[in-house]
Amino acid sequence: MSVFDSPAFDDHEDIHFFSDPETGMQAIIAIHSTVLGPAAGGCRMYPYANSGDAIFDALRLSKGMSFKCALADVPMGGGKSVIIGDPKTGKSEALFRAFGRAVNTLHGTYHTGEDVGVTMQDMDWAALESNYIHGTSSEDAGDPAPATAIGVMTGIAAAVRHKLGREELDGLVVAIQGLGSVGGDLANLLHRLGARLIVADIDQAAVDKCVENLGATAVGVDEIMQVKADVFAPCALGAVLNDDSIARLQCDIVAGSANNQLLEDRHGEDLAARGILYAPDYVINGGGVIWIADAMRDGFNPERAMARLHGIGDVLGEIFSRADAENRATNDVADLIARERIDAMRG
Ligand code: NAI
Repeated sequence: MSVFDSPAFDDHEDIHFFSDPETGMQAIIAIHSTVLGPAAGGCRMYPYANSGDAIFDALRLSKGMSFKCALADVPMGGGKSVIIGDPKTGKSEALFRAFGRAVNTLHGTYHTGEDVGVTMQDMDWAALESNYIHGTSSEDAGDPAPATAIGVMTGIAAAVRHKLGREELDGLVVAIQGLGSVGGDLANLLHRLGARLIVADIDQAAVDKCVENLGATAVGVDEIMQVKADVFAPCALGAVLNDDSIARLQCDIVAGSANNQLLEDRHGEDLAARGILYAPDYVINGGGVIWIADAMRDGFNPERAMARLHGIGDVLGEIFSRADAENRATNDVADLIARERIDAMRG
């Protein structure tokens, strides 16, 4: 596949290819933009069918990181690394150390941490070779999921204020799809604020815990997107908002942590046409990047990081108002603001 002709190519600054015959490590690091600062973005390990698919993913995800950092107002650009391999069978200390050495060749232009298929242990190995690896067991900021959940909760509050004119979440009905690290924390936070929860997960133990501890109502994984609720919070999979599901939604707001919730950009317009307020995914789930970026400044300061998490609600409020004023979809406005911020710095 030609990089420049790829539909995911967006004037990326750099794409690097690495191969280490000794360990079998094959990786691609895509740098979308360093205008706002060094590129940041996780490392994904996946058994891509071919290198074209891996390039496509790296291009698409690195652009997403540029936009996420711009909206989170962190001084970082966007990048992403993908390792071609099966995370179940293809991992070794040697392979991740080779990856760490590959990251080093970029001399701090690119910082990374764990993403799909990669664990803290893997990043600990990579960090033996590189200072540009984050989210390791020795870092103060640790797991970003609790911060992501706080950001999502703040975003839900902003959406409820805008769409429903309500200041409190007491009595709000929220349907949560996925009760993992982020969804589980979000359920606890919302419960404390008096929200009523409807939940679904393929992991029955996670559902049972939520029902017992938080009084949540459990529904099947096939039902969660069509229950009557004020808010639908996707916290599991990507591409859940598509032609079929949007027609069936019975909520006023979609606001959750999952990445790439819209199957295609046009589905943002479909949500708006149905009168459903959509909190763009890379804005509402930016809490993790805010948390990790704080640790990369001048030492981690949890109070400062927490204050910045609450800024996610303000940014979403700005997006919602502009979408109304310009009669645009919220995801479209988020992309516009991200590009405006990057272009303003470029001068
Ligand atoms: P996780 O893997 O801990 O949780 C995902 C949960 O979804 C699991 O409990 C899983 O059983 C459940 N699930 C899978 N398929 C499902 C289905 N068909 N229906 C219902 N539930 C299903 O992942 P985590 O970290 O909680 O992330 C959730 C989402 O948020 C992902 O899309 C992730 O990319 C995104 N995200 C996470 C961040 C973080 O800090 N962890 C940061 C930004 C985005």
